[in-house]
Amino acid sequence: MTVPEFQRHKLTGKKLVVVTAYDALFTRIVEQAGIEAILVGDSLGVVVQGKKDTLTVTMDEMVYHTRLVAGAADQALVIADMPFMSYQVSVEEAVRNAGRLIQAGAAAVKLEGGAPVMDRVHTMTRVGIPVMGHLGMTPQSVNQYGGYKVQGKNGARADALLADAKALESAGAFSLVLEAVPAGLAKSITQTISIPTIGIGAGPHCDGQVLVLYDLLGLFDDFVPKFVKPYAHLKADALQALRRYKEEVECQKFPTDLESYH
Ligand code: KIV
Repeated sequence: MTVPEFQRHKLTGKKLVVVTAYDALFTRIVEQAGIEAILVGDSLGVVVQGKKDTLTVTMDEMVYHTRLVAGAADQALVIADMPFMSYQVSVEEAVRNAGRLIQAGAAAVKLEGGAPVMDRVHTMTRVGIPVMGHLGMTPQSVNQYGGYKVQGKNGARADALLADAKALESAGAFSLVLEAVPAGLAKSITQTISIPTIGIGAGPHCDGQVLVLYDLLGLFDDFVPKFVKPYAHLKADALQALRRYKEEVECQKFPTDLESYH
């Protein structure tokens, strides 16, 4: 999928399906499932690296994981997250870091925030780097929010988010993630702007949906937000398999003649 094809979904009304991936194995599985857009999310800081938030993820780590995903993706649009402090300091640094992710194989980058990042989005778009915005509960601002809390619940904050969404569209963003915002607000943003909105904890009215892969597969259960629906229970399956393996080795049921060379 290309960026223009991704954008065309807004006109056809066909929902956009996005999922995160961080390595080649899962990228191939995601593609086999027919999913056409992959986000190399900085959520990898939590689900892969085991940290409490995404703030410690570095550019080098994002470049590495983007290379793994983009190297394995045949068809899907690969969007790479810009990690904390890779775009906040200056426009110049932001563009250089976005360029590194594109050179690692991503077709587009995603960054968080409203007004403070407009000039970054504008410049990146002008030099040919497609940018996805991210508004609402933006995890890189978790310390400012005092936790992972729903955003845009009161009128003034909702108006500010709508204004940010319009500004991101004008700055050239090709799409926008809306995270943990009331469904009604996500609906009015979706109806107001002409670029696709991708929801996560934003109700059913967005143009598409994104989930963290390990959440939807039931692999990561340290913290499961209300908006996650586990479509499998792979952690439970893995535990069962590993316990059986341990038991069978210990009681000499594995390996048998079947698994032996002669
Ligand atoms: O890092 C990530 O995985 C994300 C999605 C949850 C939107 O930003």
